Order: sequence, then structure tokens, then C-alpha cells
Amino acid sequence: MAVTTTYSSLASTCPAVRRIGILTGGGDCPGLNAVIRAVCRDAFHCGIRVVGIEDGYLGLIENRCRLLEERDVSGILTIGGTILGSNNKSNPQRHKVGTGPDGKPIYKDVLDDCLNTIRQHGIEALVTIGGDGTHTAAALFARLGVPVIGVPKTIDNDIMGTDITFGFQSAVATATLALDQVRTTADSHHRAMVVEVMGRNAGWIALHAGVASGSDVILIPEMPFAIEAVCERVRDRAKRGKRSSIICVSEGARFKGGQQVVARRVETSPDPIRLGGIAKMLAEQIEDETGVESRYTILGHTQRGGTPVAADRVLGTLLGSHAMTLLRQGKVGRMVAIHGSQLADVDLATPAGKQRLVSTDDPLILAARNVGTIFGDE
Ligand code: F6P
Repeated sequence: MAVTTTYSSLASTCPAVRRIGILTGGGDCPGLNAVIRAVCRDAFHCGIRVVGIEDGYLGLIENRCRLLEERDVSGILTIGGTILGSNNKSNPQRHKVGTGPDGKPIYKDVLDDCLNTIRQHGIEALVTIGGDGTHTAAALFARLGVPVIGVPKTIDNDIMGTDITFGFQSAVATATLALDQVRTTADSHHRAMVVEVMGRNAGWIALHAGVASGSDVILIPEMPFAIEAVCERVRDRAKRGKRSSIICVSEGARFKGGQQVVARRVETSPDPIRLGGIAKMLAEQIEDETGVESRYTILGHTQRGGTPVAADRVLGTLLGSHAMTLLRQGKVGRMVAIHGSQLADVDLATPAGKQRLVSTDDPLILAARNVGTIFGDE
């Protein structure tokens, strides 16, 4: 990936903007701190002050901000989570302000409160690091005249407008390790092991971790599966003397003709559905149908935590630095992105209300089929 601007050449291109705000919204993921560090170091070098906004848009709504200093971003590159805190429930257009006599939440548009916070702290431009929900709100601020640059993040890798998001590769590494680890017990006990990974409606984590671990079955939301095909594979493997079967299932996967399994609803969240639980149903059905002892493991938030892999630290640094390059050029209202192996930028509203899903003719699906993995759609 070609990066033409060197750190020492920045001073000559520093913009008139003297103070920016930065926030991390949505679910956390490994690599957020790498972006914060890259933005801050670049800004400090240009004499730009950086206001850290706490807990995503909630910090703007509640006026919780602090000036970041060099020491705040020192040593954070390798640390997961976000030093600013995050929030995947706050929506400035629909903020919960109380509960009515009927027990139902009362919502209010608090965009003005956010704009007041921005003015009060002298913030001249915003860097928003987040997923589709964060960028939907960011595009709104841009329309209201706030210069904004977005940076896409999520373990799900499902943001429209960029080919990859940071956090994804760390989640895949965690999921792959877990799949590798259950295999030894599965082999020892002649079991089928079902491992459920995150990803919302996108099967990227399941597809990549499934291929990396050599899973026998990969089930993704984009390809509803027939339980009989899964059971047939488990039965067949047992018959051929294989000691185990590993099934990697995405939390958003569903039986043919069935619905996704919803674990809970978070009503105040821009996307209230929280998926989860398909692994238990699958393991029970596999055991009933095949007689092969089956267990399930739901990896959950282990995939969002921990130390970012090197690739996510690199990607976070690249995207954070590119956000500042665009800001210095006055090219705002954009989201930084990766297209192929190149740094790029797209309209900030590109991800709003959309998801970048796995295409059923993705080359990795073909490769997986060619090495004998099934997707249950056969
Ligand atoms: O979008 C990231 C993600 O981890 C999804 O993979 C998952 O469905 C969801 O967030 C879980 O959200 P929460 O942290 O609110 O349970």
C-alpha cells in the first residue's frame, strides 16, 4: 500500500483548523486505540489540539470531553478497547430521556445539545470512528455544517464503502484459535463441536475463521442451511472413522425457511437486535439426528477483546493517518476506506443503513468447497 506523505512533511500542509474532536462509537474492537494514537500524534505534530469525547455520542450529548495530551496516547497501540470509551446505544436523534407513566421510554432529539458541546469546546472538526450507526449520525452532523471525517471499524467487516475494517482480523485470529482448541477435545471424545462466532448479518468472521481452522461445516447468514446436509456430513465423517466434526456457525445463520435466533433486544440501540443462540439449537439437533455426541461454544465478546493483531494495528494507523491527511486537505464529509490495497475515501453517508455481506460467489467460498468444506446449502 503506497503512503506518500511522510511524518516530517506534515508541517507545511497543516490546516487552519486548530482544534478537533474525536470519538469512538458503536461496539468496541481491537485497533481503535491505534487510530486514536495516529490521529492525535499527527494532530499534535501540527499544533492541533484534540478533544477526546467520552463514550461515543453520549459524551457529546452529556458534554463529557477532555483535552488529550501526548501522554494519553503513549503506549496504547497494543491495547484493545478504546481509551475514550464507546457506546452502541446512543443516537443523538433518539436519545432516551426518561420513562413515561406507561413504563415506555421517552425519546428526544438532542442534536442541539451535541452542537452546543461542539461549540463550547471550540471543536472545529470531528473524527468519528465507528460502524454504520456512528456514520449515519456523523453524516447528519456533516449536513448540519460540522466538518467530519469518518473512520470505519468493526469486527464484523460489514461496512459498505470499504473492503476491510480494522478489528476484523483480530476477531478472526481469536475465533480461529478457539476452533483449533475445541478440535483436540472433539477428537479425544468422538464429538461434534459447534462454535458460534459473531458478525451480525454478515458471515465474514465465520467464513475466514472456518477456513483458517479447517472446519468441516461453515454456516453463514447469507446462505441459509439445511440441517439434514449438516447431519449427513457429521454422520458420514463418523462412518469414515473421522474422530470429530467441527462446525463453525455465524450468530446470524439460519435454517432454510427459518428465522435468525435473537438473544435479546436493546430498544435504545439504533439496531436493537442482538443475535445469538443458534449453536445450542444446532448441537442439540445434530446429536438427536446422528447420535454423535455434540457440544457447543459461543465465543461472544472474546472476539471483540484482547490485543489487536499486527495487521489491525497497521490498518488502524493507516486509516487514522489518512483521516488527518484528508482533514489537512479540507476534504471533509468523507469516510476513509481501503479499496483493494489502496487508501481511499467515500462519502460519509455511504455506510448508512447498509451492510456489506458475503457474496455467495466469494472466491473463499469456492476455495472452501474445493477443500471439502460444506455450507449446508447443497
Ligand atoms: O457489531 C459488533 C458486534 O460484536 C456483533 O458482532 C454482535 O452481533 C454485536 O456487536 C453484539 O453487541 P453487544 O455488545 O451489544 O452485545
